Amino acid sequence: MECLCHAAVRWERCGSDSVMETILVIDDEADVQYSFRRMFSTPDLRVEGADSGEEGLRAIAELRPDLVITDVRMGGMTGLETLAKIRARDAKLPVIMMTAYGTTQTAIEAMKFGAFDYLLKPFDVPKLKEVVAKALEASRAMKQVVSYEPLLESEDYDIGIVGRSAPMQEVFKLIGQLAGSNATALITGESGTGKELVARAIYSHSLRGDKTFVAINCAAIPENLLESELFGHEKGAFTGANTQRVGKFEQCNGGTIFLDEIGDMTLPTQTKILRVLQSGTFERVGGNEPVRVDVRVIAATNKPLEEAVAAKEFREDLFYRLNVVRLRLPPLRERASDIPLLVNYFLRKFAKDLGKPVSSIQTEALAALSAHGWPGNVRELENVMQRAFVVCKGEALLLSDLPPEITKREARPTEAPGKPLPEAGAPVVDSDIEGLARALFQHARADSDLKIIPTVERELIICALRETGGNQVQAAKLLGITRATLRKRVEKFGVRQMREFN
Ligand SMILES: Nc1ncnc2c1ncn2[C@@H]1O[C@H](COP(=O)(O)OP(=O)(O)OP(=O)(O)O)[C@@H](O)[C@H]1O
Ligand SMILES: [Mg+2]
Repeated sequence: MECLCHAAVRWERCGSDSVMETILVIDDEADVQYSFRRMFSTPDLRVEGADSGEEGLRAIAELRPDLVITDVRMGGMTGLETLAKIRARDAKLPVIMMTAYGTTQTAIEAMKFGAFDYLLKPFDVPKLKEVVAKALEASRAMKQVVSYEPLLESEDYDIGIVGRSAPMQEVFKLIGQLAGSNATALITGESGTGKELVARAIYSHSLRGDKTFVAINCAAIPENLLESELFGHEKGAFTGANTQRVGKFEQCNGGTIFLDEIGDMTLPTQTKILRVLQSGTFERVGGNEPVRVDVRVIAATNKPLEEAVAAKEFREDLFYRLNVVRLRLPPLRERASDIPLLVNYFLRKFAKDLGKPVSSIQTEALAALSAHGWPGNVRELENVMQRAFVVCKGEALLLSDLPPEITKREARPTEAPGKPLPEAGAPVVDSDIEGLARALFQHARADSDLKIIPTVERELIICALRETGGNQVQAAKLLGITRATLRKRVEKFGVRQMREFN
């Protein structure tokens, strides 16, 4: 049986402790309802049908579905009218429109009225499954109120931002201050520090908390497609643009858009974002008509945007516009006092999600977790805890359940006896780098032409490309630089073409 939640990344509810979800299919053809039932019904997902828009609205009130899929052409109320009525009552319930060839214009109208997506009949089944999974994920994410109050031990919470350290208290205060405003916010922090979680907390506590929320990872979408994804395009705007397309900004009108990895956006797309922020208008790719929207923007980046501005890779004016309210998420090593709280949180979360009766942790195991440097931050801690849960056999997590990279390191450098204390925030890999540097200095003494920094930089780039099979987006992420910087370095150092790394 296929689990539809495969695309859900965060608050997936499959498994023994799952909550049943409902899809409502509105179509006057019984065959269509039947095929949806056959394709999607699982113990965790039920599919209900309605023969008309009127009946669909009644069913929504009664069944409170998590997703509605409706035909455009039906007897009685049309799909578009049904959509408008659903939107007036519930701005968050995702609605997917189905349309036969030749009626795409209507579907485009539907996207403007906030449909989640539209699909052409006959269905491309993998695409259909992907869209349904994404819509269910969006529905789950929008329902989830992300709490950010310091949580009490006894509280049973589903999802929250855990932390009592001073820097996290500052973050919570800012989220609270932002709740009553529509201001743009910029969230910065290393990978895995919780930027997306914070963006969702800002949204769920904001005045727009009952409207839609759309998250876009700018680094995951090919450069040439990002502009069209965000702003849509007109028919014939470029090769392959066979129909007009409505972008995320239009679709999200009235709601909140989260632009993740904004440092990876090209300069022309940045210009368009700046204009939307300043005047609330933009043009679709290949179009002249200004489109007006009211969207709140929350942006995030794990790279120093100031450096990108200095390198002329990021528009200075956009940077200042985004930087009005800045939330800096400290790396986990700077808030080690939060580690036991997070361990406790993940202990309860995985016990529930994985249905294992693990309720405590051995002191030595907690000490090892607290002493680790966590270069991958909270995400790394979450992954380590999850793996430990899988191998854990009893009711307590033991030191031996933890992976060797956590248990081998006896103590953080700050705690090592007899060693001078490194500066706050110094990475744990310091000692490795020191050894490497000494070896390189020896070479440099022997070879006066050797330029250490460019040589190391070039080697790092080659290693990162090799590691990622030539994927520049991933390689740039590994190196902590923007894709544009990576490209410039690849050219400067004459690094061979990507395909050679595959
Ligand atoms: N303070 C926290 N309390 C509980 N869970 C957290 C906290 N911070 C992060 N997490 C969890 O850690 C994981 C990573 O968080 P998130 O995706 O928000 O990080 P990110 O900064 O956006 O990372 P990236 O830069 O890699 O996209 C998520 O599963 C999130 O739920
Ligand atoms: Mg993220």
